[in-house]
Amino acid sequence: MNSNQKKLVTSTVPVLKTNGTDLTKHFYARMFKHHPELKNIFNMSHQASGKQQHALAGAVLAYAEHIENPEVLINVLKPIGNKHVSLNISPDQYDIVGHHLISSIKEVLGEAATDELIEAWTQAYNELAQIMISIEDDLYRSTLKKEGGWKGWRTFVIEEIVEESSEVKSFYLKPKDQGSIADYLPGQYLSVKLFIPGLGHEQVRQYSLSSAFNPKYYRISVKKEVNPNAPEGAVSNVLHQKNTGDEIWVSAPSGVFHAGVDGNQPLVLISGGIGVTPLLSMLETNKNKLQENTTVWLHSCRNEKAHAFKDQIDLLNQDSEWLTTHIFYETVSKNENNAIKEGRIDLAELKDEVLIDDAKYYICGPEVFIKVQYNSLIKLGIAQENILFEEFGPQLLHFN
Ligand SMILES: Cc1cc2nc3c(=O)[nH]c(=O)nc-3n(C[C@H](O)[C@H](O)[C@H](O)COP(=O)(O)OP(=O)(O)OC[C@H]3O[C@@H](n4cnc5c(N)ncnc54)[C@H](O)[C@@H]3O)c2cc1C
Ligand code: HEM
Repeated sequence: MNSNQKKLVTSTVPVLKTNGTDLTKHFYARMFKHHPELKNIFNMSHQASGKQQHALAGAVLAYAEHIENPEVLINVLKPIGNKHVSLNISPDQYDIVGHHLISSIKEVLGEAATDELIEAWTQAYNELAQIMISIEDDLYRSTLKKEGGWKGWRTFVIEEIVEESSEVKSFYLKPKDQGSIADYLPGQYLSVKLFIPGLGHEQVRQYSLSSAFNPKYYRISVKKEVNPNAPEGAVSNVLHQKNTGDEIWVSAPSGVFHAGVDGNQPLVLISGGIGVTPLLSMLETNKNKLQENTTVWLHSCRNEKAHAFKDQIDLLNQDSEWLTTHIFYETVSKNENNAIKEGRIDLAELKDEVLIDDAKYYICGPEVFIKVQYNSLIKLGIAQENILFEEFGPQLLHFN
């Protein structure tokens, strides 16, 4: 790209800032019209709520803003690359996206879209696509190199189903081919692909691995999404109706939100609701090594019935001095254990417990929950680089 083309791209940033979401809405409608098969891999509920449009607009805008030095975007592009790899995105699909994105820029900008501007954007998109393809190629290769690693969709059989709370079920998954499975870092997720009868096509969702790695199976734990004011969650409801012996498609473990496996640092784990899953894997993985360090877990959920993995965490807590837990319920019934606190997590109130030298802070839960906990930690003086978080949806929160 020459400097004139870079200037042209940068000059469209203000337009993208005000119209970015319109542009991507137009783009998705156009692309799905020409490639309806892509509805099988895009999350159609995100499309309905506008979340994915926002995420893609954000990525395009970030790229346009940093066109002079796109390498600074690597921290933003890595999680997207991990998500793409877990969806088995291939280089040829970048041509489809590129074609519809550039055509949409033309159609949305109308006369303002000069040939020169369109050429500059085509170059910019191709450069971004090359960076992404290269990140994804590295990720595909490193998974394939692992014992039990694979690329794309592999058939797994549901070996066991365990009810963890009134709304969460764990699924123990074994590969149908009976081969070995790739290990993972605690906090990483799988993508699961299912045919959804109500939609008439497939859908993919991500689920965190909820236990320490066990070479015999993967375990995911899924909350049934029921919403009185909107359609019920497509994939979680179909999964909750599955029986042992049923088959689903699974992609290899992926994701950038993870702890290490050497337990050499104190951990402060902060979860809301189903955000418990990746943190439980971090705790289980490190439990032997963590004994030399402090671990604090703060968890909040609606009430005892909705509290998944309660017994498991109680058990770990009973015979360990290294682990402290603080459980919060929105409503506490009278005959409950008085160690349960009523209300929401207030990190400022618990600062003597959570301010630990050299600790890493992992937050997982709904968007608002993450915002509140992140801001509290910053106010308590925790450095940004020691706070890691994951949203269970398109990653829209960028604090650092
Ligand atoms: C990295 C990662 C890890 C995750 N880990 C876990 C995990 O361990 N456990 C877990 O349970 N989940 C996890 N999730 C969330 C999971 O991927 C799904 O998003 C979740 O199960 C909901 O999917 P669904 O298909 O059931 O619901 P969807 O169909 O995606 O719907 C989601 C919500 O949107 C609403 N909705 C649907 N359609 C519309 C519409 N047209 N208008 C308005 N609202 C609508 C639904 O009512 C529902 O509340 C994770 C997500 C990510 C990204
Ligand atoms: C340079 C080009 C691209 C950019 C900037 C981009 C950007 C993004 C972003 C920001 C997300 C959200 C990440 C997250 O959920 O955390 C995303 C997700 C996704 N991308 Fe891309 N992407 C590109 C190319 C592609 C291509 C070529 C495909 C394949 C057709 C694709 C398919 C998807 C899918 C299916 C998702 C998940 C959607 C969802 O869960 O709602 N993307 N992409």
